[in-house]
Amino acid sequence: MKLIIDTDAGVDDAHALMMALACPDAQVECITTVVGNIDLENVVRNVGTVLDVMDVDVPFYRGAHLPLVAPWRFETEFVHGSDGLGDLRQRPPARHFPADGHAVTQIIERSAAAPGEITLVAIGPLTNVALALRLDPDLPKRLKRLVVMGGSLHAVGNTDIFPAEFNIYCDPEAAHMVFEAFTDILLVTWDATLANPLPTPVFEELTSQPGPRAALYRDSCEGMLKRLEEAGYEAEVLIPDTLTMAVTLRPGLIVASERHHVAVELRGSMSRGQTITDHRSWVRQTPNVECVTEVEIGGVADLFRQFVAPV
Ligand code: RIB
Ligand code: CA
Repeated sequence: MKLIIDTDAGVDDAHALMMALACPDAQVECITTVVGNIDLENVVRNVGTVLDVMDVDVPFYRGAHLPLVAPWRFETEFVHGSDGLGDLRQRPPARHFPADGHAVTQIIERSAAAPGEITLVAIGPLTNVALALRLDPDLPKRLKRLVVMGGSLHAVGNTDIFPAEFNIYCDPEAAHMVFEAFTDILLVTWDATLANPLPTPVFEELTSQPGPRAALYRDSCEGMLKRLEEAGYEAEVLIPDTLTMAVTLRPGLIVASERHHVAVELRGSMSRGQTITDHRSWVRQTPNVECVTEVEIGGVADLFRQFVAPV
């Protein structure tokens, strides 16, 4: 399975990258970076750290440093820390650095060189994907599949615009363009994230493993869980990007999914960035997403075990 992973490397993105890099069935062609959880330079630095810890060489590229239209500000420190990786106390000496060239060009050129073979997994705002669409409208025909972490089927969000999920909210115009252009997106929403947390015993098993991979996993989670607990939230281990990567790598883990037409609200004062789902069962718009609703979490846990295991 050939993958391009588009990421705004925050904590769960890093884990999703580790999951793909440790999966023997996956060939990560390249990693493209986009502003989102944190500024682009920190996203790039964090991807480098993941490659350092995993000790693998995969080309990665700088992408969009701002959303298409929406203003950007750093607003996820509570979850991802000041460095986007949970305020890591220490990192190995940097040995991986971004390649020359732009992320969007790589998405276009690599998908053109291998038509029908590459799955693009977008686990951050969709700015790069939207720019690629504007430069090459045939992109949807050439990708094997587009997988997106984003949105919410039932207006349960995680941002200041409460029905909006972060990846869509961060660049609504980009998301609008993507949902208009693609007809069969595999979508993992915030609802699916809330419905499929990582069981606490599994988390405790993973974080007790030896080795640098488990250490990166443990250290990157520590701050987020501590802040959640201090703020009085039940510190469930929510895994949006890793859940998305798991169902990409193992589609058999999808227990239930629904096909819907999903669009993006661009104007609402209380809903800009919300995904709008056509739930009607009668006359309805042609579906453009397969929305994952239930996942076999035991199989997801096995993919976590695979990437924290010492080599
Ligand atoms: O809403 C969750 C998404 O926003 C995840 O991709 C997380 O990394 C953040 O980007
Ligand atoms: Ca992300």
